[in-house]
This record gives sequence, C-alpha cells and structure tokens, in this order.
Amino acid sequence: MRFDGKRVLVTGAASGVGKATASLFAEEGATVVGLDVQEAPGVQQCDLTDSDTVRGLVAENGPFDVVLNVAGIVRLDHVADLTLGSWQRQLDVNLTAPFVVSQAALPGLLERKGNIVNVASVAGLRGQAYSAAYCASKAGLVMLTKSMALELYQTGVRVNCVCPGGVDTPLIAGVATAMPTDLDPKLMARLDNVIPRFSDPLEIAEAIAYLASDTARSVTGSALVIDGGMLS
Ligand SMILES: NC(=O)c1ccc[n+]([C@@H]2O[C@H](COP(=O)([O-])OP(=O)(O)OC[C@H]3O[C@@H](n4cnc5c(N)ncnc54)[C@H](O)[C@@H]3O)[C@@H](O)[C@H]2O)c1
Repeated sequence: MRFDGKRVLVTGAASGVGKATASLFAEEGATVVGLDVQEAPGVQQCDLTDSDTVRGLVAENGPFDVVLNVAGIVRLDHVADLTLGSWQRQLDVNLTAPFVVSQAALPGLLERKGNIVNVASVAGLRGQAYSAAYCASKAGLVMLTKSMALELYQTGVRVNCVCPGGVDTPLIAGVATAMPTDLDPKLMARLDNVIPRFSDPLEIAEAIAYLASDTARSVTGSALVIDGGMLS
C-alpha cells in the first residue's frame, strides 16, 4: 500500500499503460483521478489539448500528491508526407499537455512535496524513422522532465520519466494499421526489442510506481529505460 491516502492524477487512464497504472495505484491505496479523451468507467472525459478545461479539472480534483502524464499518440509517416496538423497534434498531446497538466498541479505538488512521472519513450532518446513528430515530442518530454527536476529539487518535488520500448497496447496495434506500406525494413527492425516480446503495460506501471514511491526519494530528473534491450 505504497500510495495509501495519496491523490494521484493519471492521464490516458482509459487504455494501455494509463489504465494499468491507474489500477495499480488504486490497488495500492491511492485515490485516482483518471482523465482521457476516450470514455471509460471511472475516467473523466477530457481532451488534454484543451488547456482551459485541463486547468479547470486539475483545480476541481486536486490537490495531487502524484501526477502521471501517460496519455500519448503516435503516427508513422514519411517526413515528406507529415502534415502540419499531424505534427502539431503529436506535439500538443505528447509534450504541451504534460506541461499544462504539471504546471496546473504544481501548487498542490509543492504543498505536498509530491512528484511527477512522465511517460516518454525510447523515441525520445534516439532517432526513429518515420516518427519525426513523435520523436521530437518525446525528446522534448525527456528534457521537460529534466529541466523541471533541476528547477524544483529544492522544493522537494521530484520529476522523472520512463522510456518504454514496445509495449503491448492498442497504440501499437493502431500504428500497424495506419502506417505507410513502403517502409525500409532495415529501419523498421531498429524498433524491435532485443528480448523478443513487447512489454506488458503492467511492467511499465510498476516502473512508474517505483519512481512515484518513497523508495525513489533520491531519484529526480531520471529517464528510466524499459525497452527489452532495444537501446543496448
Ligand atoms: N505502446 C508502446 O509501445 C509505447 C512505447 C513507448 C511509449 N509509449 C507511450 O506510453 C503512453 C501510453 O500509451 P499506450 O501504449 O498505453 O497507448 P494507448 O493508446 O493504449 O493509450 C493512450 C491513451 O491516451 C489517450 N489520449 C490520446 N490523446 C488524448 C487526448 N488528446 N486527451 C486525452 N487523452 C488522450 C487515449 O485515448 C488512450 O486512452 C503514451 O505516452 C505512449 O507514447 C507507448
């Protein structure tokens, strides 16, 4: 019961890693507030790119001890075909929304000496073909994490992120159905985990829980890689 009595905000709580994370924190005693653009039981519906609504929901449901920015989107495209709309949407959901959520929750986090865990990606740590917007957004999220960690260390608020490789969620299934068919197999092979399976969403949730727990009290500004050996 590592999170007994804690209020925890989880974005992307309707599916995949966010859903597994919300369940794990609830099982360990937290009061979880889940936000997602998709409808799901016990999750408040909200488009995280609507900053005013996000600020309102954070104020209404807070203060929080832990903020988990999990929601994300990805689309594979040749860079020549990447539309400005798709670029902007990936930046908005994957990078701007975590900033807006974290900033809105900050007064409560400061009061409670809480912490933030962002879900970035191995795509934030090295280049990935056909993923220019996703890579840029996740690299930005890694640096948002590190920058906030440095700025806030004196307040007792910790900020970390996890960088998963392939995880078995609807996001992966969605990518496969929407990607162009003429991709270079050599570049696509770089996306494979070395351990020949996708991680389970619960494995990522467990890593998030570690970073959010007191066990990680000396850990801030870290980007914890859980990638089945992909970056090795
Ligand atoms: N699945 C993977 O292989 C993988 C690998 C590395 C990183 N990640 C990251 O993990 C995180 C979780 O992804 P997942 O794999 O669980 O995918 P998922 O699609 O199962 O879950 C993502 C959730 O985010 C929500 N979401 C998307 N746009 C939103 C918006 N505008 N407002 C509110 N909610 C929104 C979706 O509705 C969905 O419920 C993402 O940040 C993703 O980039 C996933």
